[in-house]
Amino acid sequence: MAEWTRDERYQKYEDVDQQTLDDLSAKVNESKYRQTFHLQPKTGLLNDPNGLIYYDGTYYISHQWFPLGPVHGLKYWYTYTSKDLVHFEDVGTSLKPDTKDDSHGVYSGSAFEYNNHMYYMYTANHRDEDWNRISTQHIAKINAEGEIEKFPKAVIAEPPFGYTQHFRDPKVFSKDGVYYAVIGAQNEQGQGRVIQYRSTDIVNWEFQGEVHTNLDSFGYMWECPDYFNLDGYDMLLFCPQGIDGEGERFKNIYQSGYIMGQYDIDNLTMNHGDFFELDHGFDFYAPQTFIDEHGQRVLIGWMGLPEINYPSDVDGWAHCLTIPRVLSIEAGNLKQRPVKSLEQLRINKETALGYANKFTRQLYPYEGRQYELIIDILENDSTEVYFEVRTSKTQTTLITYNKKEQKLTLDRSESGLLPDPVDNTTRTTYLDTPLTQLQLFIDTSSVEIFCNDGERVMTSRIFTDDEATGIKTSTESGQVYLKFTKYDLKDEEV
Ligand code: FRU
Repeated sequence: MAEWTRDERYQKYEDVDQQTLDDLSAKVNESKYRQTFHLQPKTGLLNDPNGLIYYDGTYYISHQWFPLGPVHGLKYWYTYTSKDLVHFEDVGTSLKPDTKDDSHGVYSGSAFEYNNHMYYMYTANHRDEDWNRISTQHIAKINAEGEIEKFPKAVIAEPPFGYTQHFRDPKVFSKDGVYYAVIGAQNEQGQGRVIQYRSTDIVNWEFQGEVHTNLDSFGYMWECPDYFNLDGYDMLLFCPQGIDGEGERFKNIYQSGYIMGQYDIDNLTMNHGDFFELDHGFDFYAPQTFIDEHGQRVLIGWMGLPEINYPSDVDGWAHCLTIPRVLSIEAGNLKQRPVKSLEQLRINKETALGYANKFTRQLYPYEGRQYELIIDILENDSTEVYFEVRTSKTQTTLITYNKKEQKLTLDRSESGLLPDPVDNTTRTTYLDTPLTQLQLFIDTSSVEIFCNDGERVMTSRIFTDDEATGIKTSTESGQVYLKFTKYDLKDEEV
């Protein structure tokens, strides 16, 4: 692909002629990788989910957007509303780079309610003549007509003393009538941090300090922090950049995970255990959470990663958001389950019971490109069991479960085209309990695999041919007794 020049990346789409935009749309719409039940960019590149909130009976979901191509350039917020997190109304661009402070992008941020109005707090990204980054934090109000009114000036005009301009992605939350913002930061020693501000009027923000964790040397930048209490546990989510891989952990270019424990919000001390990854697939980053209409904590992530080229790039678009997941803590462990409202998409239920062994590779006659598949593992006397989806004579996406090690591996080496650079074509997670269930959401170019009713999730893009529709199981040795429940998923033209 041709390299994009800086000028091309920082072009406003409002300045581009209609014919060029129409040609790009036509190209994108012809892409064989277009998803059916995931939010994806109309054209160009989508990254982080932004401004997620359930406000006054409506969900608001925005995402980082560079409209003109599959590269990171001048970022806008593109917004959808929804009544159920399944059907979406297209609102269009909401926050635009139209001031000096955000001249080089309206970066990530969150939504919150204050005095019966909805607000966004977000990072404005500016580059000076020498291309030095200048990051400021801003607020915009959504007025009664649904229009965005940016506050006239930054509410946090510079990083605190001792921190660099890598200062972004404010997540606002309130507690006992006080508003807090946790912000991704880097200290002058080049270490990633989360820093915290407080406000009682949302205009004046007082810097409180950095969140004290035991992860002092844990990457050079922490992006997209989130804080909330979940079932009695304080959760701090963030995306550290610059962590070395450790065995099967931290294999993606950047990580997205959480620490959990007890947080003293006034002293900013977090007593916590290990840092765990939120997802064990290839393509997951920059998630954000919000509270849904039932009071549940819901997470949506970016199904992609920075600094990687994806096969859909040639079609003029890249990435999508994950399906929403409900978070809970059960017996001290995080569970992530797909939101229930997704069941509205189910059609054509098919079920089967059967054995699989090393000779059966063609057990299930079903096929498809967009579906939900629940595999209950009723008995397992195998050494390794192989589940394959989107198979053809030449392609397959392989999930292997090794019983002895309780090890689950996703292999996309034969899934079709691969993102570039490719370091490795497997991702592995060790389960806490023996595998009893896989719940798979397959869209045209992605798989989301929920293991053991939310114990682990593996999220990945796959760029498979249209003909690869098969579903197969077999074992290395021994046999498994399985129940399959498959639903086709309605194409709601997201
Ligand atoms: C994470 C991120 C954020 C930033 C945004 C810019 O993917 O780098 O830190 O606000 O993307 O698009």
